[in-house]
Amino acid sequence: MKLPFDHFDLIAGWYDRLLHSAADDGLRDALAAQPGGWLLDVGGGTGALSAPLAAAGVRVAVCDLSRGMARQAHAKGLRALLGSVARLPFADGSVERLLVVDAFHHFTRPSPTVQVQAAFELLRVLQPGGRLVIQEMDIRRPGVKALALGEKLLLMGSRFLTPAQLVTLFEAAGARMLAQQPSGSAVIFVFTR
Ligand SMILES: C[S@@+](CC[C@H](N)C(=O)[O-])C[C@H]1O[C@@H](n2cnc3c(N)ncnc32)[C@H](O)[C@@H]1O
Repeated sequence: MKLPFDHFDLIAGWYDRLLHSAADDGLRDALAAQPGGWLLDVGGGTGALSAPLAAAGVRVAVCDLSRGMARQAHAKGLRALLGSVARLPFADGSVERLLVVDAFHHFTRPSPTVQVQAAFELLRVLQPGGRLVIQEMDIRRPGVKALALGEKLLLMGSRFLTPAQLVTLFEAAGARMLAQQPSGSAVIFVFTR
């Protein structure tokens, strides 16, 4: 169903105060982003997670489908690109670090096949030997199942994959998994190519 509004545009102004949580050590270690190196935060929203990395000298760009969320990232001084993960404006093999946090299950517009496109597109722009770090809520957990039901009732179009389904999808797109580790109710995946 196509809705006449974007949920994230509606909540962009208060997203940081109410919903976002900071990058923990596990995520930072998984990324191993270096000052001066480039990081693209895809579905990066307000840039809440990548702004501290930018403050530490990492060159950050945020790409997001929501104009409201991208505007918030821009207001933090981050390079903010309005666009879809399905078509990233970067050359093949050009990005050292890619970050996707709490966003993969939202990559469903205009259709759920965007998740497949996303896997290929993220790997297309990833530098050989670079890192793609994905953090997703673990749908096998009861609390996350409840969250998924809430998002369904809100008509958000979310589509959660199990960790095994996500790994299968990325490996089919040509990724090599370096690590997979739990992080609270989520799982952190580290891929390279
Ligand atoms: C729950 S927010 C997560 C934001 C940020 N990663 C964080 O953890 O604070 C999910 C984000 O994914 C974005 N999004 C949804 N579909 C997208 C797509 N096809 N391409 C890029 N971003 C998308 C939404 O606009 C939203 O900002």
